[in-house]
Amino acid sequence: MKKRLLSVVTLAMAFCVFLFQSGFSSCASAPPEENPNQSLVMTACTACHDTQRICDALGKKDRDAWIQTITRMKGKGAAVDQDKIPGLADFLSTLKPGTPPVCK
Ligand code: HEC
Repeated sequence: MKKRLLSVVTLAMAFCVFLFQSGFSSCASAPPEENPNQSLVMTACTACHDTQRICDALGKKDRDAWIQTITRMKGKGAAVDQDKIPGLADFLSTLKPGTPPVCK
């Protein structure tokens, strides 16, 4: 009987690990992972101006407008890989006006 209980517990734990590995984190109390697009904005987009300019544009530019802006910033020298632009544009176009840390 005891052995049976142990195997149930083991199974539950294994299931938890499985869920955790597949990106479902309710089993573990890991801190929420920082959004890589957000990190990129906070590093690559702060080389020439602070994020206030970006903050001002939140909610005003759609995805295409952000692609244009980021491409333009890349032309000025922003360290953003070409393949990161669509993800960045998705991120910025869905960010609500006033969202930290882009906005202070
Ligand atoms: C190499 C310097 C540089 C970097 C890096 C840079 N910018 Fe800029 N950015 C500028 C300059 C200069 C201006 C003001 C002149 C202009 O608008 O062309 C500006 C203006 C802006 C504006 C306001 C004008 C507009 O088109 O809405 C936004 C928004 C903006 N930048 C977003 C970004 C984002 C997002 C990034 C990161 C991908 C970034 N910038 C990185 C130089 C830079």
